[in-house]
Amino acid sequence: MVEIRAWRMEDSAKLATILNNRNILNNLRDGLPFPYGEKDAEEYINSVLASDKNSVFAFAVVYDGELAGSIGVFRKENIHSHTAELGYYIGQPYWNKGIATAAVESICDYVFANSDIIRIFAEPFARNSASCRVLEKAGFLCEGTLRANAVKNGIVEDMKIYSKIKAQQ
Ligand SMILES: CC(C)(COP(=O)(O)OP(=O)(O)OC[C@H]1O[C@@H](n2cnc3c(N)ncnc32)[C@H](O)[C@@H]1OP(=O)(O)O)[C@@H](O)C(=O)NCCC(=O)NCCS
Repeated sequence: MVEIRAWRMEDSAKLATILNNRNILNNLRDGLPFPYGEKDAEEYINSVLASDKNSVFAFAVVYDGELAGSIGVFRKENIHSHTAELGYYIGQPYWNKGIATAAVESICDYVFANSDIIRIFAEPFARNSASCRVLEKAGFLCEGTLRANAVKNGIVEDMKIYSKIKAQQ
């Protein structure tokens, strides 16, 4: 069973184990240290716990009672204040069990029900077929390819942009 729940400080050791993995970091934005240690995980959890609960919706992803990953929806600013960016990762031992898809569905339902956000988008690297598949399975629409939109590890990368819009009542 997959659930999303608030972060707890005791998640830090497992979070560090999950994120200390280049196969995950290579698919995320820059800024996370490698190696990634328990202190880094504690800092992250502290920052989430201190964040504005109406702008940062960040949850631990739990699979059969074990911490398996991380997911967050982050509100944008100015004219984009009703839109938010989605990000996530799942620990490698847990891949291909449908965990990310279930977590994405849950967080979108939560954010649309508990905030005034109307659009949630994600920008995976175009080469990240697993993440693109997750978004498609979770009901996101691919809006196109952002050509040469990033440089990651010295390589120019295309990205895809996907979005889900809050259902009209
Ligand atoms: C992307 C990621 C979150 C997927 O998590 P997950 O829990 O394994 O995802 P799910 O099991 O819900 O779905 C994965 C889907 O991708 C497919 N898939 C996996 N590897 C694939 C590959 N190399 N090529 C194409 N499809 C692939 C799976 O078959 C599955 O689709 P299916 O149900 O139609 O068979 C996980 O691999 C991860 O954390 N990667 C590193 C970080 C990352 O990429 N984060 C997203 C940044 S945008």
